[in-house]
Amino acid sequence: MVVTSSEFSAAELRAKFLRHVCQTSPAPLGIVVRSASGCEIVDHEGKKYLDLLSGMGVANVGHSHPQVVAAVERQLSRHLHVSVYGEMIQEAQVLLAEKLAALSPGDLSVVYFSNSGAEAIEGAMKTARKFTERPRFVAFQGSFHGDTFGALSLNGNPRYREAFEPLLPIVDFLPFGDVEAIGRIGHDVAAVFVEPIQSEGGVRIPPDDFLPALRHRCHEVGALLVSDEVLTGFGRTGKLFACNHWEVVPDLLVLAKALGGGLPLGAFIGPEEAMATLSHDPALAHVTTFGGHPLSCAAGLAALEVLQNEGLIERALELGEDWRRELAKELAPYAREVRGKGLLVGIEFASADFTRRFTARCLELGLIVNWTLHCDTVVRLAPPLCIRPAELELATQKMRLAAQAV
Ligand SMILES: Cc1ncc(COP(=O)(O)O)c(C=O)c1O
Repeated sequence: MVVTSSEFSAAELRAKFLRHVCQTSPAPLGIVVRSASGCEIVDHEGKKYLDLLSGMGVANVGHSHPQVVAAVERQLSRHLHVSVYGEMIQEAQVLLAEKLAALSPGDLSVVYFSNSGAEAIEGAMKTARKFTERPRFVAFQGSFHGDTFGALSLNGNPRYREAFEPLLPIVDFLPFGDVEAIGRIGHDVAAVFVEPIQSEGGVRIPPDDFLPALRHRCHEVGALLVSDEVLTGFGRTGKLFACNHWEVVPDLLVLAKALGGGLPLGAFIGPEEAMATLSHDPALAHVTTFGGHPLSCAAGLAALEVLQNEGLIERALELGEDWRRELAKELAPYAREVRGKGLLVGIEFASADFTRRFTARCLELGLIVNWTLHCDTVVRLAPPLCIRPAELELATQKMRLAAQAV
């Protein structure tokens, strides 16, 4: 890849970033990016970082995969945006929808494309409300579904809700992984939103009977089960979708992040009868200008082909298991637990202070890692699924050094 040098120094770009790009964190990572490819991000001075977060769950096939770049270039030469969502027939969008329908579990065959995960959650909320004509939603403690008002109303951490209240007043929160509590889901519930594995909640894997029991209860009361696979989708946990681990078929599947292969794209997928509700009474009540952008769909289609052709999903399952074993061994004196599925890994430390200093040390050593939003004692690792065993080994050794140095 040809990288043109910038006319600005790293210090100048950092100053402009801090002054003019709205800040959302008191301590941003602050890497001044020059380029990214595969598992690596290179900064302005040429320092290389191993991206153990995949650009926060996006680069499952690696950054700037050549096949994804080529597909974007091909689409670029045909057309960019042509019309609002759902009006014109765009080849890349149609083919991606067809492919997603073929790969989705059960009878989920109709795709609505959005620009982001939060927007897809909003669409799923509206679809469930209109289809069931019921008022309430259920979500789980520790959940994260995005930061728009509807999605934030489903956020399972009061700390993030309180600053923006009043939010939607019709959401009940149940303890994640608690099979007993599922019985509290009543007949007035339109939809239950669940991440099969909570990521921002601290890489929390529910007991094996939880999701099947949730599926059963939703059938019983007539609520839609919505599986939020924005982060767990596209092979991250060693299956195409995490709900596949428990052979649970949701009523709506929510996707984003890796879906667009590095370009912005979200989607929710459902059966024909539920999705048909969006076309009438009133028509055009859920539209978007850019949702399902042709560049994003072309990139997503190529990324999905790479994921399948390079066998990255099965690879994630095997590599993840070996890596967790190695991490548990090397970090034994420091970590309370190493857990995960596939290449979604959580390392639990004893204190938030240790975790913060550990991640800072990792960054110095060229590893991009971070703690999770709702659990500041857990470091989440989610490297590109194409990462090489030697890179994982190097990462493990650097993490051991980082922990030693805290
Ligand atoms: C599980 C989950 N759902 C939804 C979202 C929101 O996606 P987006 O940031 O694309 O709006 C995220 C983002 O991190 C997520 O992890």
